[in-house]
Amino acid sequence: MMHDSLARETPIAITVSGAAGQVGYALLFRIASGQLLGPDTPVALRLLEIDPALPALEGVVMELQDCAFPLLQEIVTTADPAVAFDSCSWALLVGARRRTPEMKKRIDLLEANAPIFAPQGQALAAHAAADVRILVVGNPCNANCLIARSNAPDIPDERWFAMTRLDENRAKAQLASKAEVPVGEVSRLAIWGNHSNTQYPDAWHAQIGGRPAPEAIGDDAWLRGDFLTTVQQRGDAVLAARGVSSAASAANAILDSVRALRDGTAAGDWTSLAVVSHGEYDVPEGVVCSFPISCEGEPNGSGWRVVEGIEHDEEAQRRVRASTDELLEERRQAQALGLLPGA
Ligand code: NAD
Ligand code: LMR
Repeated sequence: MMHDSLARETPIAITVSGAAGQVGYALLFRIASGQLLGPDTPVALRLLEIDPALPALEGVVMELQDCAFPLLQEIVTTADPAVAFDSCSWALLVGARRRTPEMKKRIDLLEANAPIFAPQGQALAAHAAADVRILVVGNPCNANCLIARSNAPDIPDERWFAMTRLDENRAKAQLASKAEVPVGEVSRLAIWGNHSNTQYPDAWHAQIGGRPAPEAIGDDAWLRGDFLTTVQQRGDAVLAARGVSSAASAANAILDSVRALRDGTAAGDWTSLAVVSHGEYDVPEGVVCSFPISCEGEPNGSGWRVVEGIEHDEEAQRRVRASTDELLEERRQAQALGLLPGA
């Protein structure tokens, strides 16, 4: 009893990088209100930013204070990854250089961002809690996750994730809208591959109200065409409309990702997370690839596995291969930049 009450009073440290950015602003208040770790778990926020953004971050801190969140026990702001990752149990790596119009190719984005994630991986290995879990959101998130992971060899593969839950949520919303059902009726929707426009949102194994999605939709041409391209290009569409990346929906997907790991996925259902491949479904070992993931639900995010036994037809295999080829190319580029020690 005593132990329980002490445990409840000990805050869990969560690091958010890029905390003064758009996603950070949509995320921090939800974490502090208990929407990430639940209504009984006090949290300590460690907010990492680059020096020029620290004054703006102070404004965010003032607003966090002004919300008087009962669960928010501590806020640290810093530009030093060693301080930011100190004893953190969850690291949400959002901070990144944003895509600019001059960055025409993914390699440009990778080059701009890769140097951020090697030192952050090293700092995580040196300072984070022994059970730390890392979710990489900053783009290109699969490659950035691989780079951070390669720079933290002592943190095991199963603690590293890159976010594809936003893509999953987008795909579910498209299917629900087409089938004219509430989105909660869509299950078993997995994103395969890279968080990029080569990703493969798999509607063929999804279910709508317990029925196979293709049967419920009744329009295979739409599933092979508009559905795929809408999901693959949704980030660009939001960027074009807003002038900045999806932020509220990205923050929401961060909560969904962590909660799936902590609370579990429903029996027979799965979620999407990019994880370090161990050769599942012939995806090359070592790349950070999105798969269907089922989670038992452990407070520290352990107890997940890649769902086995999904059979793709030839077209799906071709699409997954196109995305994993892109992951291999990004790994080759990161290697050429000297960012993958030991790889
Ligand atoms: P933003 O430009 O508003 O914010 C990014 C923040 O990161 C800035 O405040 C910047 O100062 C900070 N930053 C830059 N370098 C840093 C470093 N080395 N350490 C700590 N902080 C650093 O961008 P945003 O809209 O908040 O998006 C953040 C990232 O998330 C982008 O890379 C975006 O592409 C990505 N994103 C991913 C998904 C996804 O589904 N995986 C969805 C939306 C956005
Ligand atoms: C998204 O999917 O909305 C983002 O990854 C887009 C981006 O480039 O920030």
